[in-house]
Amino acid sequence: MSLSRFMDLADFSPAEVEELIALADRLQRHPEPKALDGKILGLVFLNPSLRTLASFQAGMARLGGSSFVITPGQGTWGLETRMGVRMDGAAAEHVREGLPVLASFCDALGIRAFADGKDLNADIDDSTFKSMAALVDKPFINLESAINHPCQALADWKTLNDLAIAPRSKFVLSWVPHPRALPLAVPAAALHMAALRGHDVVVARPEGFALPSAIMYRARAAAALSGGSVSETNDRAEAMQGAQVLYAKEWGCTSHYGDAAMDARLRADFSHWQVTEESFAGAMADCRLMHCLPVRRNVAVAENVLDGHRSVVLKEAHNRLVVQMAVLHRLLA
Ligand code: CP
Repeated sequence: MSLSRFMDLADFSPAEVEELIALADRLQRHPEPKALDGKILGLVFLNPSLRTLASFQAGMARLGGSSFVITPGQGTWGLETRMGVRMDGAAAEHVREGLPVLASFCDALGIRAFADGKDLNADIDDSTFKSMAALVDKPFINLESAINHPCQALADWKTLNDLAIAPRSKFVLSWVPHPRALPLAVPAAALHMAALRGHDVVVARPEGFALPSAIMYRARAAAALSGGSVSETNDRAEAMQGAQVLYAKEWGCTSHYGDAAMDARLRADFSHWQVTEESFAGAMADCRLMHCLPVRRNVAVAENVLDGHRSVVLKEAHNRLVVQMAVLHRLLA
């Protein structure tokens, strides 16, 4: 399988995902410290990160390459991402110049740019991110866009493999509380990953927080090809019956997308959606807790669950490094 862009896990068949994970497993067993000798990865973070930033730099170094990080507006010029605007605001440079310049300095470029959180259709289309990606004439990596986080999804798939969790088992993607609206990228990517892996996926969310129909439709199509299924409910206790995985994630209200006041009013009633040990009643005895991190303790997930036997959140995070090394290897070696 040749690879020039890592934009969306949905671009891959299940067999191709397994091929990438097999490469990740091989690099874990047999490190290749010179595979990317002399190669340079550019990383542009328009939004904060801990895992993505550190794991890409570490992965590049472990393969013998190097990397540079740009956080626009923090020691470098602020970057304007909107097309066709009059640049009389804070940003001194436009991505139309900035990104091709950065791409000319390196062998591959990754960009993180979260959703605007104002216009649901624009965020689902990922149009700003795609416009930026089109400015880069080098191998390209999506470090999390408005609606996608393929690196997280690939790490989560590997985590399920490592734990020998059977594809047809029940996978509950559950909305959990957060003080404010967060993007749809991780829930959309996790849903699609689980559907593509062939799970029976149930999206559990309160009223007002249903995932957009375009995301559900795409996931149902992936599940149909993989022998799984996708359904949704506002009754998490029922969804958890027989569940093998509880994937907890925070996201913003979709019924009043971009309306911060309405979002806050809605979510105020749903603090009981926090994951506690009681949330696992009726689930498989060894039901696992997944979360992409960062996570707010005792808001999204109770501390004893995060620290307990069900939690695989640290394994997921470590697998970011492992699978991204495979992506870098495939893009650049
Ligand atoms: N899960 C994840 O992408 O973490 P960061 O936001 O810290 O990169």
